[in-house]
Amino acid sequence: MSNKVAVITGGASGIGLAAAHRFAAEGASVVIGDLDEKHAQAAAQEITDAGGTAIGVAVNVLEEASIAALIARAVDEFGNLHVLCNHVGGSNPRKDLDLLRMDMDEFDKTMALNVRSTVLGSRLALPHMIEAGGGSIINTASVGGLSGDYLQSAYGTAKAAVIRLTQYIATQYGPQMVRCNAVAPGAISTPALRDNLSEDEIEAIKGHNALPFLGEAEDIANTMLFLASDESRYLTGQLLVVDGGMSSHSSIAEDRRGFMPN
Ligand SMILES: NC(=O)c1ccc[n+]([C@@H]2O[C@H](COP(=O)([O-])OP(=O)(O)OC[C@H]3O[C@@H](n4cnc5c(N)ncnc54)[C@H](O)[C@@H]3O)[C@@H](O)[C@H]2O)c1
Repeated sequence: MSNKVAVITGGASGIGLAAAHRFAAEGASVVIGDLDEKHAQAAAQEITDAGGTAIGVAVNVLEEASIAALIARAVDEFGNLHVLCNHVGGSNPRKDLDLLRMDMDEFDKTMALNVRSTVLGSRLALPHMIEAGGGSIINTASVGGLSGDYLQSAYGTAKAAVIRLTQYIATQYGPQMVRCNAVAPGAISTPALRDNLSEDEIEAIKGHNALPFLGEAEDIANTMLFLASDESRYLTGQLLVVDGGMSSHSSIAEDRRGFMPN
């Protein structure tokens, strides 16, 4: 990753923070963009203290001008741009419910936070990547975008859109050597997960993994590193599902265990 400049939105916490550390450890110049400027700068300082190169920049991905300022800062500081992780996303699970009870303002905000921000970040980064001779855009989706659920209708719909958007970007800018892939984390132990779900809910979700443990931020960061690096140079328009095998089995698999012959 040396000689690569990488912008990570939502890089001050959880998965984004782990990716910032991983990218910097591999030699990238990292721009940590986050709503929480204090934590973004503290994270950048920690990377710098460890001998890496990073800056922390305030950004609100709900505002186009703010994303534009983030991308401009990256290019001003480091000369060009090769990697963009459109990582910010989520929804409020107390308002993002089933279709009949879902708060429509929350639906709009969720689409803006997950989808519009990814469209805008990519539009603003693409000209710089093309000028640099190529690049890699990594969009954070979720297993929530792969199938239906009883809750978080807006979140699942938005993440499904992120997955399809990834293919559009890959198709349109592949000829100019810009790759675009998505990563779909399953349940990952981060502040986002622990703040939104109870311990019981997290245990129940973990029970659906094929592997008997919950993923850590580093598990996703390692996948993002692969997608950012030239080791994945022939990979574009794809979704890598990193979920401990949660989506590897059909919904009837558990029931069928009961009918297994001895
Ligand atoms: N943790 C999981 O289990 C899990 C599972 C699937 C998908 N994801 C996805 O991973 C991403 C983030 O998850 P995380 O676990 O790293 O979360 P996190 O809560 O640890 O970190 C999110 C960061 O985004 C920042 N942020 C929030 N709103 C912002 C905005 N408008 N502009 C700029 N920054 C903003 C926050 O300040 C925070 O630093 C989301 O896209 C989420 O949907 C997480």
